[in-house]
Amino acid sequence: MKIKLSPRLEVIAGCVTGACSMADIGTDHGYLPVYLIENKGVSGAIASDINQKPLKKAQKIIDTQQLQKQIETRLGSGLSVLKPGEVEVVVMAGMGGLLIRDLLKVQPAVARAAKKLVLQPMNNQAVLRRYLETAGFLITREELAREGDRVYEIIVAEPGAMIVTTPLEYELGFEYYRHQHPLLGALIDRKIFLEQQIVASTQGRTTAVAAKQFQESSRFIEKLNEVKKCLSN
Ligand SMILES: C[S@@+](CC[C@H](N)C(=O)[O-])C[C@H]1O[C@@H](n2cnc3c(N)ncnc32)[C@H](O)[C@@H]1O
Repeated sequence: MKIKLSPRLEVIAGCVTGACSMADIGTDHGYLPVYLIENKGVSGAIASDINQKPLKKAQKIIDTQQLQKQIETRLGSGLSVLKPGEVEVVVMAGMGGLLIRDLLKVQPAVARAAKKLVLQPMNNQAVLRRYLETAGFLITREELAREGDRVYEIIVAEPGAMIVTTPLEYELGFEYYRHQHPLLGALIDRKIFLEQQIVASTQGRTTAVAAKQFQESSRFIEKLNEVKKCLSN
């Protein structure tokens, strides 16, 4: 059976370059390691998940593709399933940005021993970028993938020091902010849409928290609109 990846997973797979070994943390269906072994020259992979059920799904596809010698499944949380330096590339995709940050934080030796981290947070991308900066990682590549009206952010990082020139880079990404990724306009539209929902739900509310959130989101929408204007000029 030929594995066909979704556009999001295809972009993630494209970021796993020049690696012999990789780990897919939170693998669920297991498509990514199978695809990388079959198509991208990866020779060994670890597919892990905290839950038994998804790991069984992954094992099933590994068995179907007869890749039991190349892909090992491991049950456990985050990077606790790995020894430092055991794989070259670690992928964590389809999880919340706060969870990805926390998983990196609790196993710093494993995170820092990987040559490359490929991270695809579903939300809280700015929090994750800020964490990477303070934990001594350099973002070397940023990619975007679109599926329907969602735009996914993919962050590639390795040990190193990062120079941040504007706080907007935490929100919109480093490389594609500078190089104006073709999906940057769509990403900004999506972020404006999400912030508008926050503005609508906090408008007119009198609690201090709601009023602060209203102001922050309104200001952020203004900034995003300014960046959008620059893109179209
Ligand atoms: C939405 S799926 C994403 C699957 C796949 N990585 C992708 O991007 O398509 C999230 C997976 O992460 C797993 N997960 C959640 N918390 C985890 C943790 N702390 N450690 C490892 N896996 C976790 C879930 O069981 C689930 O299978």
